[in-house]
Amino acid sequence: MSELVEILTKDGSYSLRSAFFQENFHSLLGALKETKSKFTATSNLQRFKGKSLNVLDICFGLGYNSASLLNELIKQKSYLNLFALEIDKKPLEYSLRNESFLKLWDPKVKKIFESLDRKDYFEDQFFKCTILWGDAREKIKVIPSSIKFDLIYLDGFSPQKCPQMWTIEFLSKVTEKLNPQGYLITYSSSAAIRKTLRNLGLEIFTIKPSFKNRTFWSQGTVAVSKFDKNKLKPNFNFEKLSLMEEEHLLTKASIPYRDQDLNSSKDDIIRRRLDEQLFSNLLSTNKWREKWGMTKLSIKS
Ligand SMILES: C[S@@+](CC[C@H](N)C(=O)[O-])C[C@H]1O[C@@H](n2cnc3c(N)ncnc32)[C@H](O)[C@@H]1O
Repeated sequence: MSELVEILTKDGSYSLRSAFFQENFHSLLGALKETKSKFTATSNLQRFKGKSLNVLDICFGLGYNSASLLNELIKQKSYLNLFALEIDKKPLEYSLRNESFLKLWDPKVKKIFESLDRKDYFEDQFFKCTILWGDAREKIKVIPSSIKFDLIYLDGFSPQKCPQMWTIEFLSKVTEKLNPQGYLITYSSSAAIRKTLRNLGLEIFTIKPSFKNRTFWSQGTVAVSKFDKNKLKPNFNFEKLSLMEEEHLLTKASIPYRDQDLNSSKDDIIRRRLDEQLFSNLLSTNKWREKWGMTKLSIKS
């Protein structure tokens, strides 16, 4: 599983490419930039200044999303209970060897990551962090059901490369762990994922791109549990779906990934969805693309 190749991204931060999944861990535009603009800025962390929060980081990888979160929470003196799920230890070991990754953060982040690497756990006055190694579909069951999360980061490889992380059944397990008004944040703007999250009863929003064009129309999705518009803190990073994005959810691209017993292989999940698309009466996704004048995305989405 872990044939990993180092990649230097355009903002000067390092990432990895997985030969097994045939995909990069981050956008080539910048690993750090991606974490900050998609995950950290979208989290509205100021809400938790001096307070406590629970966060679940699914697909921890090198740990950019958790590191950036910890870095902000150290500054604002929040109390954090963090759970991370990851199948492969190699990316964390790589991060701990990479001085330029470690230099991005407060030195306490290195201490926490070393402790996660050595004993899967860290605890001090402010932070309690646990990493559960293994298939997230299994390990999510280990998290006590009494713990509800204010933020869930979902950063798996793309649905086409790693559909196991994006099925109705897995996302249902994930979203039942959200607190009311909690955010699930993902870089994915896939119609299947958005439709699944909406069907699970969450309110969905699009993460605004820094500049909009036909290829970059969204940086991802925020799904809010038990949404109450009076309780949503203003966030200039996300907004309601555009008409184009709403129409995307009416196409065959919105057909979900399914994994009934949470143990299907990648190929089975993809094959089942293709069969369902073949017999579906939904609009063709190509027609939607033509209508909105766009080309097929070739990046992780
Ligand atoms: C896109 S990368 C994550 C990037 C990460 N957030 C970071 O900051 O580096 C996807 C990660 O998902 C992990 N992964 C793949 N399949 C998984 C599974 N079934 N359960 C848990 N983790 C998985 C991979 O090992 C990889 O580290």
